[in-house]
Amino acid sequence: MTTIVLRGGQLLDRSGRRSGDVLIDRETGRIIEVGPGLSGDDVLDATGCVVTPGFVDLHVHFREPGDEVAETIMSGSRCAARGGFTAVVAMPNTDPCTDSASVINEVLARGASALCEVRPAGALTVGREGRALAPMAELATLGVRIFTDDGNGLQDDRLMRRALEYAGSIVTDDGVPVVVAQHCEVASLSAGGVMHEGEWSARLGLGGQPAEAEELMVMRDIALARMTGTRVHFQHLSTAGSVAMVRAAKAGGLPVTAEVTPHHLSLTDASCAGFDPVFKVHPPLRTEADVAALRAGLHDGTIDAIATDHAPHAPETKEHPFDQAPPGMLGLETALAVVLADAGVSLDQAVALLSWQPAAIAGLADRHGRPIAPGEPANLAVFDPEHSWTVRGAESASNSDNTPFEGRTLNGRVRHTIHAGEPVVIDFEATR
Ligand code: DOR
Repeated sequence: MTTIVLRGGQLLDRSGRRSGDVLIDRETGRIIEVGPGLSGDDVLDATGCVVTPGFVDLHVHFREPGDEVAETIMSGSRCAARGGFTAVVAMPNTDPCTDSASVINEVLARGASALCEVRPAGALTVGREGRALAPMAELATLGVRIFTDDGNGLQDDRLMRRALEYAGSIVTDDGVPVVVAQHCEVASLSAGGVMHEGEWSARLGLGGQPAEAEELMVMRDIALARMTGTRVHFQHLSTAGSVAMVRAAKAGGLPVTAEVTPHHLSLTDASCAGFDPVFKVHPPLRTEADVAALRAGLHDGTIDAIATDHAPHAPETKEHPFDQAPPGMLGLETALAVVLADAGVSLDQAVALLSWQPAAIAGLADRHGRPIAPGEPANLAVFDPEHSWTVRGAESASNSDNTPFEGRTLNGRVRHTIHAGEPVVIDFEATR
């Protein structure tokens, strides 16, 4: 047995905070003991740090297969590990997309040697084209638990109804239900829009995407969740109206969950004033009022999870005029520090939103977001709240560098990450 001890940290999990060392068996990947004065073969210093369950990102784009110049599963997993994530759900908009067992198996195989657990989301429709449902039951036998056409919303009302009925009928081996996740965007309303439609788009002369392009699909899908009884997970919500509808749906007992991104909690459409395409993202950065509503949604439990929508784009594709550049921004490495700086939540709240709450949505609650206790899987992040650092895209582990936080100094950074008992980040750097 080879052991490793996390020494001198404060432990933070679902049951609150306490002090203690954590002794881990590297071979079984499990926690052996928690308590004061533990020793092991190797020691990782956690003095002044907070040891938490590893984070789970419901929403990343790892670009493999198809665009490995922008990111690979390996490089993306390095970003995840550096951000404290021990599991991610990889979005389906690869090339080819994840609408078949062969592509799912390929992502799983490549993910097996990554620095975190990589779970592919299945495409909801064949080719993500919104015309015919993907073979969800078959993909569920491979372990897929989230289905989405992310990048596109599913436009056809009837097909969305059928998707929910189909998803609701799938019985999985582990009893964890599959979840239909929606990128809410009515394409006919967002067409031609490259940023939020409002004062700034008018001033800049750029086409806008109105808030209603998101909100109409949220409204429809709440109605369809009520009709079918099947859960809908709302991805990267960005508007005050969406938050209000999800709040009311939850109050009415409907089966809905929702995520927001750090960038929608931090930035507004005013960031687009310099026409820098790094601020182009879908859904677009919105107004101060929307940001305030998203933050309020975190506080009152309307929003269940923070998910990054980590969307790498290689410089040669991203550095185009604003209206021609692809949407998307990096997010994994900066997530927790940005949330702590800008979202108005405590570290304890942020960890819940980044760890056990998304783990439950992703069907990963048996091994991520767990209590820090003997016998539990050692998927852990060690966060140094005092570490001050300046964000540099060039220093990211990503193959791309499109961070919207370039040059910003943040307080707090993940110092070590343990995935399945293996230290994958030590002193802020990935180990492989
Ligand atoms: O900004 C975005 N980028 N939004 C999406 O929905 C897709 C993503 C990407 O794949 O780049």
